[in-house]
Amino acid sequence: MDEAVKTKLAGQVETLNHRIPIPERLSPEQFELEREKIFRPAWIPVANAGDLPKPGSYLIKDFELFNTSLIIVRGSDDVIRAFHNICVHRGNKLIRSGVGCRRNFRCGFHGWVYSTEGELINVTDAQAVKDLDMSKMGLPPIKTENWNGLIFVNFDDQDRFTLKNWMGDWYGQYDGYFTSHEKAASNYVDLNCNWSLAVNSFCEGYHTMFIHANTMGDYQGGKKNPQRRRPYFEMAERHNRYSAPANPDHKRSPAEKIAYANDRPLIIPSFGMDSSDTPQGINPGNSENWAFDVQEFFPNFVLLSEKNWHIELYFMPIDHQRTRIQVDVFHYPAKKPSDRISQEFALSRGRNVILEDLNTLEAQQKGLMSGAISHVHLTQQEMALQHHWKVYSDMMEAN
Ligand code: FES
Ligand SMILES: [Fe+2]
Repeated sequence: MDEAVKTKLAGQVETLNHRIPIPERLSPEQFELEREKIFRPAWIPVANAGDLPKPGSYLIKDFELFNTSLIIVRGSDDVIRAFHNICVHRGNKLIRSGVGCRRNFRCGFHGWVYSTEGELINVTDAQAVKDLDMSKMGLPPIKTENWNGLIFVNFDDQDRFTLKNWMGDWYGQYDGYFTSHEKAASNYVDLNCNWSLAVNSFCEGYHTMFIHANTMGDYQGGKKNPQRRRPYFEMAERHNRYSAPANPDHKRSPAEKIAYANDRPLIIPSFGMDSSDTPQGINPGNSENWAFDVQEFFPNFVLLSEKNWHIELYFMPIDHQRTRIQVDVFHYPAKKPSDRISQEFALSRGRNVILEDLNTLEAQQKGLMSGAISHVHLTQQEMALQHHWKVYSDMMEAN
């Protein structure tokens, strides 16, 4: 039956492995290597530009991976920058936590003040400071880029990659995408699992028939595609993406009929969705019966994307066996009350689906740490995971 589903493959798949020695990659020593070999050269997404709507808007992001905390702020010149969240006087954490909007940042310890562009602009009792040169005493900057509304940072002193190199062919394929929707929900959870396991959990559709059986039992596949084979896989140099198949046989439930009576359907992509007027990176294989895409931006960001909604998944390693997972859901801008109703309906269903995705991770970590198995076995449906581990190996083996 499912011969009818032809998976279109793009990029190199011949070099992928399906047996992966994950257990030996879960140690603290391995994590130290990953920090330098993978995360140091990488460009890492940290926020959506919509989180920083006007000059002075800022958010604090604790960044255990590099043992620091960041202030990400939109300056009075409208440029978004990231800095180490540390006062250069005696190292106090400048802003403890949270989000907000300020004209400047004043340290609570002795009152030194920094502008939203990171310059030191006031030193209290300045005459008491020898050789004071405020122009050289700004907040320590982190390289930052605003790519189509997604904010990336980079901690590499050697400048091995520009963001353009890092993104490769995808660089020009998401014009304006990340700011085309409005944020509808943001949640995070710290789980006792390795960051790669968490990323892997969101990059395959093989599980959907099983762990989402009660929440979205028939939201993909249908009679012609009972195994829910992906219509499109693309393995880029570092990143990968695939498209999920809609279910054209889906019958709307009474609740869906009400929720989506007058509005664009959201996260239940149960029939072929429309990808017209979207950037090239959305439905990149022009699949028919397209539901949505899953993109892994190596190493630790996953985008689920559709025309009417997208989800940004940030997987921030805390240590070798702990990961902070932030899930931000975005919808098309609501214009009327019925838009709000359909969006709330989608959010409430989507929340349970995400919880199901998260629910396997701590058990999987424990199992793999037990030493009972040396490898995991990835199917062709899990080709994006094979690609994750290929890029992982390549970067770990590089100088
Ligand atoms: S540590 Fe910030 S003003 Fe002293
Ligand atoms: Fe899932």
